[in-house]
Amino acid sequence: MFKIKATENRARRGEFATIHGTVQTPVFMNVGTLGAIKGAVSTMDLKEVGCQVELSNTYHLHLRPGDGVVHDLGGLHKFMNWDRPILTDSGGFQVFSLAQLRKIKEEGVYFASHIDGRKIFMGPEESMQIQSNLASTIAMAFDECVALPAEYGYAKQSAERTARWLVRCKDEMKKLNASERTINKKQMLFGINQGATFDDLRINNMKEIAKLDLDGYAIGGLAVGETHEEMYHILDVTLPFAPEDKPRYLMGVGTPVNILEAVDRGIDFFDCVIASRNARHANLFTNNGYMNLNNAKYERDMRPIDENCGCPACRNYSRAYIRHLFKAKEMLAMRLCVLHNLYFYNHLMEDIRTAIEEGRFAKFKEEKIADFSKRL
Ligand code: GUN
Ligand code: ZN
Repeated sequence: MFKIKATENRARRGEFATIHGTVQTPVFMNVGTLGAIKGAVSTMDLKEVGCQVELSNTYHLHLRPGDGVVHDLGGLHKFMNWDRPILTDSGGFQVFSLAQLRKIKEEGVYFASHIDGRKIFMGPEESMQIQSNLASTIAMAFDECVALPAEYGYAKQSAERTARWLVRCKDEMKKLNASERTINKKQMLFGINQGATFDDLRINNMKEIAKLDLDGYAIGGLAVGETHEEMYHILDVTLPFAPEDKPRYLMGVGTPVNILEAVDRGIDFFDCVIASRNARHANLFTNNGYMNLNNAKYERDMRPIDENCGCPACRNYSRAYIRHLFKAKEMLAMRLCVLHNLYFYNHLMEDIRTAIEEGRFAKFKEEKIADFSKRL
């Protein structure tokens, strides 16, 4: 159940109820592809940095340790010791970005594992079965994410096939949720809108999938090489056709500025690897701008990364010390920086929620975009 508590123009402040607790939106999901956040961050740490929803991947967990193993051990929540919501991506995107020797057919995708070359088939039914084994809170539909720039004819054919796959995902999930062996019988399904950068394909696809009464609607196929302006344009033209009363998820996005712009256009859910990936390269998001801790000017800088941050790194350590850890290749360097960036993102979302509730999001957005565009 999704409840909108407040709006400001197109921005929405909502609450999404799940069997693993209520998610306050807009929300940023923290990416733990293999069931762990890269950078030696535990699920205890995730709570400390304010993570509401953890995101894992069907494709990766199917290959290793195997979704059958996770099912037999009681599901992903128990396996990784995380009791809040988990969203699993369907494998669609990873099959197209990682797997080799892909062959797309109406029934699904034939490919070779990027780990050992093993031949695998994944279609809508298989993706749902794997996600049901993982017992995530929210499963994503199996889709094709077309590379950009895309040819119109191919993008059309692909978006239509993805819509047909979505119907099969819905049918399969219904069966799985009724099965005795299923761990999470209340698993929810989000559909994914595709259509590359073509307005008419995006709109037609959204109109089609909106009829299916799903638990949520994602916009996929973006942040894959188009400009930011093109991405915002797709949101502007497509979202008017998404159901008002269901959450909307912009997949794989993005920078703090992208998030502010997308919230302003009516997006409720986000995920992106840049929060943690950039941190592992000493690139940090702060309230005063973007910084790289490897810079020599921080050698004797005893201030925290961000004076206004309450994260474990900023509460306890200096820029000079963490910079030293990077130079010395100590694992603690990455860990502290990942904790900082995730805390930054999760608390940015909290500030966004408060701003919408108080009817001052427009002003908040402009101020934050100016702050975030600085380089320290
Ligand atoms: N993650 C980022 N973009 C996409 C997409 O288009 N589809 C899926 N399944 N996952 C994504
Ligand atoms: Zn911090």
